Amino acid sequence: MAEKMILGICGSLRAASRNMGLLRCAREEMPEGAKLVIADISELPFYAEDREKTEAVRVFLEQVRQADGFALAVAEYNYSVAPALKNALDWASRERGDVFAGKPAALMGAGGGMGTSRAQYHLRQTCVYLDLRVLNRPEVFANAFSSAFFDNGDVADTEEGKKLRAKVAALMKELCERA
Ligand SMILES: Cc1cc2nc3c(=O)[nH]c(=O)nc-3n(C[C@H](O)[C@H](O)[C@H](O)COP(=O)(O)O)c2cc1C
Repeated sequence: MAEKMILGICGSLRAASRNMGLLRCAREEMPEGAKLVIADISELPFYAEDREKTEAVRVFLEQVRQADGFALAVAEYNYSVAPALKNALDWASRERGDVFAGKPAALMGAGGGMGTSRAQYHLRQTCVYLDLRVLNRPEVFANAFSSAFFDNGDVADTEEGKKLRAKVAALMKELCERA
């Protein structure tokens, strides 16, 4: 059977992003028969209907088309979804053919005390319109300011980090079973 491809998209563009660290962790924990490709959305311009697609947009849209499922790392800005992630989804949502319809998606996030739960619930609303099938559990609401992360954003080798890694692995297993 062909290897399944999960596309990881991260809402934070900063170098030491904990959310990107979650995606790197997910990539390491993929079950057999599946791989996680992390999209580079850092060069996507803001979407406008009459804007020509740049090379970065074309590459991203092709990755979305090819993906069997999505792992979305939901950075929370001001109680909602960080704009880079929303913008990436907006670009793909205007493609011909429903590029998201019926595909599974897993949400995870690292933020303040609420672990990006507010942003994740906002994103779930967007996913309804995109017809993505978002998994309900396990929920990955990580504290970005805890010992679960190294300074470079990677999930740490601490007790808290190991628990987080196990949750991410379980989420990827669920996702790949549906992809
Ligand atoms: C503009 C901005 C707004 C933020 N708003 C929130 C927020 O509403 N809730 C929250 O938990 N953290 C908030 N934070 C803190 C981020 O969750 C924290 O910086 C986190 O590490 C960002 O994710 P990253 O490490 O992937 O960049 C905010 C940070 C920034 C820069």
